Amino acid sequence: MTGLRDKIILITGAGGAIGGAVAAEVKAQGGTVIASDLKSGIDMTLDVTSEQDWQRVTAEIMRKHGRLDGLVNAAGIAVVGNIEKTDFATWRRVMSINLDGTFLGCKYAFPLLRKQGGAIVNLSSVLGLVGSAGLAAYSASKGGVSLLTKSVALNGARYKPPVRANSICPAFIDGAMVDDIAANARDPQKARENFAGDIPLARLGKPEEVASLCAYLLSDAAAFITGADVPIDGGLTAR
Ligand SMILES: NC(=O)c1ccc[n+]([C@@H]2O[C@H](COP(=O)([O-])OP(=O)(O)OC[C@H]3O[C@@H](n4cnc5c(N)ncnc54)[C@H](O)[C@@H]3O)[C@@H](O)[C@H]2O)c1
Repeated sequence: MTGLRDKIILITGAGGAIGGAVAAEVKAQGGTVIASDLKSGIDMTLDVTSEQDWQRVTAEIMRKHGRLDGLVNAAGIAVVGNIEKTDFATWRRVMSINLDGTFLGCKYAFPLLRKQGGAIVNLSSVLGLVGSAGLAAYSASKGGVSLLTKSVALNGARYKPPVRANSICPAFIDGAMVDDIAANARDPQKARENFAGDIPLARLGKPEEVASLCAYLLSDAAAFITGADVPIDGGLTAR
């Protein structure tokens, strides 16, 4: 697999289940990964809510590589709570990481991507397409990510070569995020079974499956795809 050969790809949330799988897939397809997260053990520390961090990281990439070919905004958090139970501080925290973080990433990576054309992949969610009573702030943040992506795509389409931007909309994917949501339920094991039971393909998704889709959208094979919300949801939003 050489679909991403010589492409330089910055990934946020690379310490997480999906970001980590994307990093492995990009490497496997011949790309150069710049893995970022809050934690150590990655290439660059980057708090996506910090404008200064984005300025530092993009300046460093510019100095070292002179360009960027792809950005994957995979940092994100989910906090359980309906509109009655979500306090304002929680709302703001979720918006800050999921939506402000994606905005800042698109904004600061854009000038580097514009140099030779490039691709942005934002991690939205099925909850960017349909609502959920129990994840009010998360749903709102992901709806924002999906529409922000369309705006970035329309702007990027004006450049030759273009900067493409697409959203991936996964249903429940195995990893810490689903574990945390399930841990909030009275019976976590039952909650996991219910998540899978809601999905027509009757299972949770795998981070590697999201990573394959992400790599495709980053690659030149997806040259005519921009501004799309691409569900990867085992059929959840088909009904
Ligand atoms: N797991 C799912 O079921 C699922 C479903 C739909 C969408 N998504 C989205 O996919 C993305 C990745 O999810 P995941 O399953 O890998 O989650 P995860 O919890 O495994 O990883 C998320 C990563 O984001 C990082 N992060 C949190 N706040 C940050 C900040 N301020 N700056 C930088 N990094 C920060 C964490 O350190 C963590 O490594 C998220 O945006 C999530 O909303 C996940």
